Amino acid sequence: MSSSPDSAAVSREWWKSAVFYQIYPRSFADSNADGIGDLRGITHRLGYLQQLGIDAIWLSPFYPSPMVDFGYDVSDYCEVDPIFGSLADFDELLARAHSLKIRVIVDFVPNHTSDQHPWFLESRASRLNPKREWYVWADPAPGGGPPNNWLSCFERVGAAWTLDERTGQCYLHSYTPHQPDLNWRNPDVCAAMERVLRFWLDRGVDGFRIDVPHRLIKHSELQNNPPEIAHLRTAYGQPVPGLRNLNQPEVHDLLRLFRCVLDAYPERMAVGEVGITDLPEAARYYGRGDELELVFNFSFWAQPWSPAAFARVVGEVERTLPAEAWPAYTLSNHDLSRAATRYGPERAQVAAVMLLTLRGTPFLYYGEEIGMTDVQLDARWTNDPDDRDGARTPMQWEPGLGAGFTTGSPWLPVPPTARTANVTTELQDPRSLLNLYRRLLQVRCRNRALQLGSCETVLVNDAVFVYLRELDGERLLVALNFADHSTTCRFDDLKGTYLLSTHAHIDPGEHASLPLRLEANEGIIIRLEVSDGTPSATAVSPSPTS
Ligand code: NOJ
Ligand code: CA
Repeated sequence: MSSSPDSAAVSREWWKSAVFYQIYPRSFADSNADGIGDLRGITHRLGYLQQLGIDAIWLSPFYPSPMVDFGYDVSDYCEVDPIFGSLADFDELLARAHSLKIRVIVDFVPNHTSDQHPWFLESRASRLNPKREWYVWADPAPGGGPPNNWLSCFERVGAAWTLDERTGQCYLHSYTPHQPDLNWRNPDVCAAMERVLRFWLDRGVDGFRIDVPHRLIKHSELQNNPPEIAHLRTAYGQPVPGLRNLNQPEVHDLLRLFRCVLDAYPERMAVGEVGITDLPEAARYYGRGDELELVFNFSFWAQPWSPAAFARVVGEVERTLPAEAWPAYTLSNHDLSRAATRYGPERAQVAAVMLLTLRGTPFLYYGEEIGMTDVQLDARWTNDPDDRDGARTPMQWEPGLGAGFTTGSPWLPVPPTARTANVTTELQDPRSLLNLYRRLLQVRCRNRALQLGSCETVLVNDAVFVYLRELDGERLLVALNFADHSTTCRFDDLKGTYLLSTHAHIDPGEHASLPLRLEANEGIIIRLEVSDGTPSATAVSPSPTS
């Protein structure tokens, strides 16, 4: 039986029971009518986030940047881009968030800078410049061409190398040529970036989301990738990556260094965007409890809509992560297609119940809670080097022009669907997705078993995924019907009361009756009465029952 950690551990490890909300600052709220979201806009909307019930926000980059990769090309790590405001605006945001008991983590982008960062301007100035070794430079191949066969992550970019005519050498860029990779084998780079971490920690941030940590260290001899996998741009879908431009063993020394810096401050954490789908390999980024506190699990994004597929991901996480590692799940982010687009409106509700009831820290992407969908944009609007703009359109606060995001003209268009999928309209509708998220967050907040309890799969078939969360004898059953038809699950020994259903036919507090019937695309949470055993499914009818 799982038992509660002591209260000191709970507050030190607040990130285990927290629900995070990702804000893409450009698109959340515009305070000065220039059509671009900003820090003051976020500060004004913190009350909404508090009422939603989230515990922490992750801010995507707001640092000075030429915006080639919309802020993931940083030209000064310790400032705020004027388009987003000032350091004073940041301090105000942080203070206001903390006063509302909302923690704030910021994006740390260590793999690369902008090509306009003063470090790179110096580095490229001459081969003898003291900052030359801050980046990864190599001679072109004999006869010209890139030094090796490494590819940029972005298909459109092609090779990961660009020749710098002035000095006759190529520099490495895992993304666009405007994002040169730092040389993390150079201790001066480590020291400079440690200062960046301290700068934000001293300002009071609660931690960091670390951009592509698995890419920080490259093969020391810059060896070619093996020919059979050289076409792979990422480590997605590879059981054993073997790529030499990422996931090199020495990266774990860097993560331990980051951890030491964070551990010198109370209650700080880091979550890593480790883009490796091979779970045992990704799990190594937790170290022995001395590297990252959290590692994103992105697997849901790629699953077909089937209970077996999602249960397989959860089962693998439960079996593979060592006891001291804590899962972190997400349905979408600024790089991926939105959940409501992938699943459609009914299934998005089931996905929401799953995300907020699994064992692990959930990360919501802004707008996910109101069912925002990807927007098809014509060429006039697309600016992103990897065509991700459609999942980054302005937050939809209210119906009408500008959707309450801006009174100017928004940097990306607001789609017609914003007339109904918006915060104001959905708050008035008890059956809206937004109100489902609010109810889910309340139930999660009131039930420690959902935050910190164990997770055991009880039943998976063609229609349903059912699991049990348990802590200190408190047992909650979550049943998700992935099917577009109703279904019935028969359990031995199931007595309890409903805490939540996605559907209107059940009221919280009602007794759960047997056999358990789930409507099409219904998700429910039941508090089980105290009993000795785990409910076991004896028979199930996955076929339509109505
Ligand atoms: C991952 C970020 O999420 C993505 O938006 C960015 O383009 C790359 N890293 C490069 O920083
Ligand atoms: Ca603005």
